[in-house]
Amino acid sequence: MLRLALLPGDGIGPEVIDQATRVLGAAAARFDLAWQHETLDLGAERYLRTGDTLPEASFVHLRDDFDAIVVGAFGDPRVPSNVHAKDILLGLRQRLDLYVNLRPVKLLDARFCPLKGRGPSEIDMAIVRENTESVYTGIGGHLRKDTPHEVAQSVMIHTRMGCDRLLRHAFALARTRRGVLTLCDKANAIPHAHGIWRRALAAIAPEFPDVEARTLYADVAAMRMVTHPHEFDVVVGDNLMGDILSDLAAALVGGLGLAPSASLHPGLHALYEPVHGSAPDIVGTGKANPLAAILSVGMLLRDFGHTAAADAVDGACANAVLSGETTPDLGGNLATSEVGTYICAHVSRA
Ligand code: IPM
Ligand code: MG
Repeated sequence: MLRLALLPGDGIGPEVIDQATRVLGAAAARFDLAWQHETLDLGAERYLRTGDTLPEASFVHLRDDFDAIVVGAFGDPRVPSNVHAKDILLGLRQRLDLYVNLRPVKLLDARFCPLKGRGPSEIDMAIVRENTESVYTGIGGHLRKDTPHEVAQSVMIHTRMGCDRLLRHAFALARTRRGVLTLCDKANAIPHAHGIWRRALAAIAPEFPDVEARTLYADVAAMRMVTHPHEFDVVVGDNLMGDILSDLAAALVGGLGLAPSASLHPGLHALYEPVHGSAPDIVGTGKANPLAAILSVGMLLRDFGHTAAADAVDGACANAVLSGETTPDLGGNLATSEVGTYICAHVSRA
């Protein structure tokens, strides 16, 4: 029995999670999977109503009672500080120690690539982003805040354990793909906090002699992703480099509407979410593209060993994209729920 916690969240989050849940239902029926889900009321509404962001009881429930968490999006203009999003999303990454952030980036159709003359065979990478350290730990502070003499500090932390475990995960992934791993860092400008990554890479690479390990400065990597995207297979970065490069990479294949992700502590915890945000401006219009959420569910099914179901979901999404059965952001004229219906129909007859 696959036990899932759903956190639809804010804005278009509930709309895309509704479709992702329908697709899970269709996949479960077609492939005979037993699953159950519980929707947790966490997000801006709850925060505005009660002041709760991630109450301890909800955290313990999420930690102890589910195989995986499926997130929609967090962010609401009525909460300008975004404190709830920070507590829930960054809080779960930290507190469940979800150290791998995996963002596959695959071009399905040349139409969606903003680069001239590039096709699907040339853009297929997996961004493996460290998800708990770097400048995301919250360590830092202000001195003389709001005075002309203010000092602001955010500390960049990397631990050797954190580098090693992420690199081993990335190397193992590279083995199942084209066997090229590129570490992207700023070790030239940040020799301490990013130098540790290069030393960790040099120490671990011999464990994976079948993988080609390369290093690139992240600024150069940003340029080469545009000029030579085919050179990238598994891309590794710290929390900050990975954040920035994963948006750049997503833009190469059609933007955030097609970008799924997983935040994992392998063997212990798993959280799946579309990379996009809550898009408050299109709530209720039927324009929200559910494909990133549905592809995230595909990643979930694959991780839990339901390969045929995952193939059916991925295949149905590719089919929708290739035949123009999409929301307007990808050039189609379907509404959010119609895309869901199309995917469900394909999965049911897969
Ligand atoms: C992401 C987002 C988050 C991040 C923001 C919302 C804090 O950009 O998941 O990539 O920087 O990690
Ligand atoms: Mg980001």
